[in-house]
Amino acid sequence: MKESQGKTVFLRDYQVPDFLIDETSLKVELFEDHTLVSAVLHMRRNPQSPNPQAALVLHGRQQELLEVAVNGRFLTDTEYQLDKEHLTINEVGDSFVFECRTRIHPETNTSLEGLYKSRVMFCTQCEAEGFRKITYYLDRPDVLSVFTTRIEADKNLYPVLLSNGNEMEQGDLGAGRHYAVWHDPFRKPAYLFALVAGDLRHVQDSFTTCTNRQISLKIYVEEKDLDKCEFAMGALKRAMRWDEEVYGREYDLDIFMIVAVDDFNMGAMENKGLNIFNSSCVLANPATTTDFSFGRIESIVAHEYFHNWSGNRVTCRDWFQLSLKEGFTVFRDAGFSADMGSRAVNRIEDVGFLRTVQFAEDAGPMAHSVRPESYMEISNFYTVTIYEKGSEVVRMISKLLGPELFRKGTDLYFDRYDGMAVTTEDFVSVMEEVSGIDLRQFRRWYTQAGTPILEVSRRYNADRQEYHLTFTQSCPPTPRQPEKKPFYIPVAAGLLNEKGQEMPMRFAGESAILTSRVLAVTEPQQTFTFVNVPQAPVPSLLREFSAPVKLKNDLTRDELMFLMSHDTDGFVRWDAGQQLALQVMQECMQQMKDGMVFEMDQRLVLAFEHVMRSSIDDPSMDKAMVANLLLLPSEAYMAELAETVDPEAIHEVREQVRKQLARQLRLIFAAVYNANTTAGSYTYNAEEVARRTLRNTVLNYLMTLEDAAWFNQAWLQFCSADNMTDESAALRAFLNNPCPANETLRKEMTVSFYAKWKHETLVVEQWLSMQSAAPVKDNLPGIKALMEHEAFDMRNPNKVRCVIGAFCNSNTVGFHAADGSGYHFLADQVITLNRINPQIASRQLTPLTRWRKYDTARQAKMKEQLQRILAEPELSPDVYEILSKSMDQ
Ligand code: TRP
Ligand code: ZN
Repeated sequence: MKESQGKTVFLRDYQVPDFLIDETSLKVELFEDHTLVSAVLHMRRNPQSPNPQAALVLHGRQQELLEVAVNGRFLTDTEYQLDKEHLTINEVGDSFVFECRTRIHPETNTSLEGLYKSRVMFCTQCEAEGFRKITYYLDRPDVLSVFTTRIEADKNLYPVLLSNGNEMEQGDLGAGRHYAVWHDPFRKPAYLFALVAGDLRHVQDSFTTCTNRQISLKIYVEEKDLDKCEFAMGALKRAMRWDEEVYGREYDLDIFMIVAVDDFNMGAMENKGLNIFNSSCVLANPATTTDFSFGRIESIVAHEYFHNWSGNRVTCRDWFQLSLKEGFTVFRDAGFSADMGSRAVNRIEDVGFLRTVQFAEDAGPMAHSVRPESYMEISNFYTVTIYEKGSEVVRMISKLLGPELFRKGTDLYFDRYDGMAVTTEDFVSVMEEVSGIDLRQFRRWYTQAGTPILEVSRRYNADRQEYHLTFTQSCPPTPRQPEKKPFYIPVAAGLLNEKGQEMPMRFAGESAILTSRVLAVTEPQQTFTFVNVPQAPVPSLLREFSAPVKLKNDLTRDELMFLMSHDTDGFVRWDAGQQLALQVMQECMQQMKDGMVFEMDQRLVLAFEHVMRSSIDDPSMDKAMVANLLLLPSEAYMAELAETVDPEAIHEVREQVRKQLARQLRLIFAAVYNANTTAGSYTYNAEEVARRTLRNTVLNYLMTLEDAAWFNQAWLQFCSADNMTDESAALRAFLNNPCPANETLRKEMTVSFYAKWKHETLVVEQWLSMQSAAPVKDNLPGIKALMEHEAFDMRNPNKVRCVIGAFCNSNTVGFHAADGSGYHFLADQVITLNRINPQIASRQLTPLTRWRKYDTARQAKMKEQLQRILAEPELSPDVYEILSKSMDQ
């Protein structure tokens, strides 16, 4: 391994900047074969810096420096030093004007970081460290500056020129060129800078704030996408209102813009006043967009908007504090989504994601705490731990404080730190200050990585009418953290009597009667004793998933069924069903391994039947909840729970159980399908989404019957649907349940779907990912064929995610083929992507890094591919970090 490749940055080395930049003026001259950037920076020494003599060291990469001047005087070659990452000037005064002019090449920038071209338009992505590819600068989040940006470009090709803030001026330059000047009055770090130039159309709306200010809202898209902006506009207005009502946060500028671009490394970016979105995360209409995507778009639009306060007005001191803005903002967008739809179902879906993806990360070689101590490449730390676990941590704080105190805390946080760059510690301190609650132990959630395991045992003493719950917590070692201290784990709990009613939960000496309470587990082992308990209760634990832990209980299958139908908490009801299904599938897996006949515990069938009967008998029941209760734990979740993963056995048993359920319950599955057929034309609302979700969930079971009547029904749904949800679900039902009997129809439908939608990029992306994600053995040749398809493009991250990502992450049985072909395939793609787009390359690598979870034969094959990538010359720091961390130990 090449030591020089991996430079590690440590939190403990943080130092305040030696210089500040009060004003930043940029001139960006866009041409087809190059771009010229002129920067004028009004700088001064930071009075807080401990080095009053420090040299000026600016960040900068991949630029050609044409001129550099200080206080209007050009510097000669000997007055500054340049290396690959910096421009250094040894002698500068206390206050001065720095100027430079550089040439860059957005037209060949395939990393999609800095200034680049997405098809026909110029756009930027500066978070985390992309601004240094645009000009020399102090590219760190604790240097905040007021920006003025002048853009010059060809008037025909780029009639629309946008940047942050307000447009001050625009005009003609002659020779077919024009310019625009934008000024953002709010100080911001460079990572929030944005610039867009293109032939764009927009839809416009306005929002009246709580203080009666009119905000102009604009969504910019290519002309062909003008019919896909309405939904995002509505979502934006709902988010603006919600942030006023729930957090008391009003928007600050007079204009808020969103731009949709096709080539984007992530979902979207919260640039001040000018959010840039991956088109897949903003464009929507019923014909091309599934219900799932509508929900996702609503939450991402809200997420980016919420960053205006949690991220922009109050920003991060350094990138170790990333969860300060991301964890908090995910928490905020989850609250918004819960208020827009079903709270319980949103929670179930979020927890499902956390438990599969984040728990797996926390158990893998890249495990890191919510506030990491070190990194090599910050782009690698935009993780589910920073985002989703970070949100869980804020969620626990909000529950500990309760709604009033938490709001008091966020008010104080926004007020005190407005315009500043702060730390997660500042956030926690404010919460402590407003509540008087001691959060010292709680802070370990920020510093210790790994998912705590919480084992619970129970004992009922009939003579003394006492009930004891004993919790034992532990946390497995993670890289550089062999030993963990106990966490503060809030366990929301209730006790149910035999009728399913909540029993009082009383500690000795208490008189107040509480029927549910939050138990604070703080010790490695801790017992809670409840008194006056007339009968042995069934415990309902970790309600609403009150802490991000792995709960190990000893509930029997009968008790799980009891909780499924009686608990008041939607999450516990669902999770009891998941545990029941897991137990049954594990038992079946053992039978299969022992060569015994497959005999499935009928209690799972009964539970499914009960759920479906109730939904037919009581049409007011939440159908989204029903649909979730009918989903078996995913293969990915089963893999996460396994000590050593056997991908084939997991796939096989889950398929068998699915088929068995469908066979035994075919009539009631059919009844649910028929009870939920479409009445009128498509509408997107919680009730209709739930109905479609339930119907399509059931269709997926019915397809396993290999029954011509159901093939026909699915085909009919495919042909007659007036919306993408039902149309794609019907195709997916075929793709996920392939069999010789449906092969002809399946292939015909796949072809006709493409023919119908080939001009809609976002639908083509779904078409690619449906095929690539299908959990089917031996379909690698099909995946390779998709990469040869005209619709595929290795330089477009969405296409890469929809084919390579979908196959390697969702088709576990295909990716983990015993011959190692899936591993070899992924390594090939990472090697290619490393040269095109390092951020995307390193993200795709993830499934290979989880080799420790597999049998020795697979481990060897996975490591061999990691080695092969490592032997490549010119590995990006992004890929190198993931490789080196997953290879050592
Ligand atoms: N801050 C963005 C968000 O809302 C994340 C993001 C967008 C990003 N583009 C990026 C992070 C590129 C790293 C690189 O979550
Ligand atoms: Zn974010």
